[in-house]
Amino acid sequence: MGTMFWVLEWLALLFVVVIGLALAAGLTMFVIDRTQTADAVRRNYPVIGRFRGLFTELGEFFRQYFFAMDREEMPFNRAQRDWIYRAADGRDNTVAFGSTRNLATPGTTIFMNAAFPPLGAQYARTEPLVIGAGAREPYMAPSFFNISGMSYGALSRPAVRALSHGARKAGVWMNTGEGGLSPFHLEGGCDIVFQIGTAKYGVRGPDGTLSDDKLREVAAHPQVRMFEIKLSQGAKPGKGGILPGPKVTKEIAAIRGIPAGEASESPNRHEEIDDWGDLLDVIAHVREVTGKPVGFKTAIGRIDPFAELFDLILHRGAESAPDFITIDGGEGGTGAAPMPLIDLVGMPIREALPRITDLRDQRGLHNRIRIVASGKLVNPGDVAWAICAGADFVTSARGFMFSLGCIQALKCNRNTCPTGITTHDPHLQKGLVPEDKADRVAQFAKCVIGEVETIAHSVGVAEPRQMRRRHVRIVQHDGRSVPMNEIYPSYSTRAAT
Ligand SMILES: Cc1cc2nc3c(=O)[nH]c(=O)nc-3n(C[C@H](O)[C@H](O)[C@H](O)COP(=O)(O)O)c2cc1C
Repeated sequence: MGTMFWVLEWLALLFVVVIGLALAAGLTMFVIDRTQTADAVRRNYPVIGRFRGLFTELGEFFRQYFFAMDREEMPFNRAQRDWIYRAADGRDNTVAFGSTRNLATPGTTIFMNAAFPPLGAQYARTEPLVIGAGAREPYMAPSFFNISGMSYGALSRPAVRALSHGARKAGVWMNTGEGGLSPFHLEGGCDIVFQIGTAKYGVRGPDGTLSDDKLREVAAHPQVRMFEIKLSQGAKPGKGGILPGPKVTKEIAAIRGIPAGEASESPNRHEEIDDWGDLLDVIAHVREVTGKPVGFKTAIGRIDPFAELFDLILHRGAESAPDFITIDGGEGGTGAAPMPLIDLVGMPIREALPRITDLRDQRGLHNRIRIVASGKLVNPGDVAWAICAGADFVTSARGFMFSLGCIQALKCNRNTCPTGITTHDPHLQKGLVPEDKADRVAQFAKCVIGEVETIAHSVGVAEPRQMRRRHVRIVQHDGRSVPMNEIYPSYSTRAAT
């Protein structure tokens, strides 16, 4: 009995103390809110005004889980993400009952099934395609679907390791992004495309210009198959790479050749490349020094200047051409970018890709310059559309981030990524186990490739690269669909209707 009274007395005292502390905290907040001058809502509505900030922040998460419809969210909706998660699981990726897609939405792609599609025995393997046949070491690229550039810095160490191992397992290439080559890119043994960003991280001399010795060092790795000069990326044309200070660890600083802890901002373009002529000169130089195929990556603004590029190539001779051009749509992703650029600058891939491939094909350069396309091409239908439009290869960045477990928390720029993919905080990185995630990366890539092949068979051809614009229709504003070859009449014999 005595013990019970003693416990009750203590509980009563605890209750009074808790209430007292809560009142004291409320009073303190009231005084702080009333006297501060920075926030009008809190000044006018002390204490209660604080809930607005809290709910705004929490709303972001609640909407994703409870309120947003399957095909509503941006940049990627739940249907797109769930398809990737299921593909990465490597389990059954079929769905039941019927499509939840609204087929009347303008821009929707509808593939044209053949009356008599090929039988299983008539399916062909998607053959490797050569890039840079004229280089000393051409690259026979095995897969049409590959990993787009994301730097070690934007990505964490376990993320890069998982991608490297996963890429090798699936037989796809991995692009380093503009942060240089790390041991973690090499670790898995996959094919690597080395990206030369505007700051030339990893291949810069003491004066910050391109170093031939460093280029030779990078090219000496047999895994490094190609070099990509980055002119711009879709998420931020006109702005160089941005790595916030907290993400510039000692190791990342050493790989890039910059001071640790300070934000790393690349110039908005290569200082020595003022026009197409300069670009072709640098491409020829890098190809000569490294012996490997060299191309460039760009977002598309005006189309006319690209006609000038292809004309210049014809004038100088086809051997002067870039071995590939990566076209990144304005809807592309990034680790960090100013909002006006991420939202409003750069042509979407759905418009840019057919136009640029037409310019190339008009000049008979189809077999000389390979086109690589990126920009929210993460599900099989998107990849198949790009191949129909004229892409030789498709790459994805965020598709592979989802396969690593990304939940679209939109925190890549803050070093607080809850899934460990874009943070250098060791506690958060613990959640990302590279050995496990490598399998998911490989399974995602294989599933995309397999389902693009399924679409190809359904439209009546033996393998994806035989798909043409006539095989896909695009839904218009009046709800009717029109064949893509009527919207973008094609110039090449390859893409003839
Ligand atoms: C976290 C992150 C980092 C990126 N880093 C680079 C980079 O270093 N260089 C580059 O050219 N593009 C970079 N990108 C852009 C991607 O390579 C790609 O072009 C773009 O996201 C479109 O592909 P997606 O829609 O499949 O993500 C990055 C994208 C993300 C999401």
